[in-house]
Amino acid sequence: MALSISPSAVAPSSATCGALIHGIDLRDITTALAEEIRAIWLKHKVVAFPDQTLTLEQYEHLATFFGPFGQDPFFKSLPGHPHVAEIRREPDEKTPLFAEGFHSDWSFLEKPPAMTMLYGRVIPPMGGDTLYSDQVAAYDALSDEMKEKLEGLIGIHSARRGYSRAGQYGEKDVGRSMAIVYDDKALATQLHPLVLTHPETGLKTLFLSPGYTIGIDGMEENEAQKLLFELYAYQSSEPFIYRHLWSEGMVTMWDNRSLIHAATGGYDGYQRVLQRITLAPRA
Ligand code: SIN
Repeated sequence: MALSISPSAVAPSSATCGALIHGIDLRDITTALAEEIRAIWLKHKVVAFPDQTLTLEQYEHLATFFGPFGQDPFFKSLPGHPHVAEIRREPDEKTPLFAEGFHSDWSFLEKPPAMTMLYGRVIPPMGGDTLYSDQVAAYDALSDEMKEKLEGLIGIHSARRGYSRAGQYGEKDVGRSMAIVYDDKALATQLHPLVLTHPETGLKTLFLSPGYTIGIDGMEENEAQKLLFELYAYQSSEPFIYRHLWSEGMVTMWDNRSLIHAATGGYDGYQRVLQRITLAPRA
């Protein structure tokens, strides 16, 4: 069958992850096109489609081709759109930047989202880039000694640093325009291996982040924190980073199993609004 996306329409970044896909109108999504996109997405880990003109309904419809909707704890969804949340910052907002620490979305869930989609609605003229760090490349570049050390270790994930009452977006977080709902349910913990085998590519990937990994199961606290801090610094270091630049109308899809990501600032005085959908793993 003829492919809808020609190889020349895919422009990889100069980093180990990230690609722009040109010439596709996502309103024309079909099962066959979604499978092509999925293959390119699995290879590049984060792909972006510039200049899309989707209504919210069309955006939700697009998402249904990539998996069942995921759970979105701690976000109030857009009215009438239970699966869409807004990443928003107003021009005069003074709260600490949302999601500035590296994380893999909702990794504290039993089944974290496979894909996150973000649709750029209002993009500031400068700043507000998203940093992605390639955790397959990071795992590959580990020393054999470190690979051996991490084998079998289980990370403890929790949303507590962000979303508990005492967390960064908790009761002291006043004046934030994003609809975040803190809750002490965020104190719960969930175990995931520090090294995952990606269920679709079979590649090994580091699965931890400063955002949500708070300990290592069965390891003494000081020893665990020392190892985690070493890994946090390593996993977000320059060789693995792709800096994604947004434009209005761009739809981005990333793989939470093979990347961590972080927001950046630098757009004080300007509004930034993106609409987010998370998708659970395929059965
Ligand atoms: C997110 O982590 O979902 C938001 C990233 C961003 O605002 O750039």
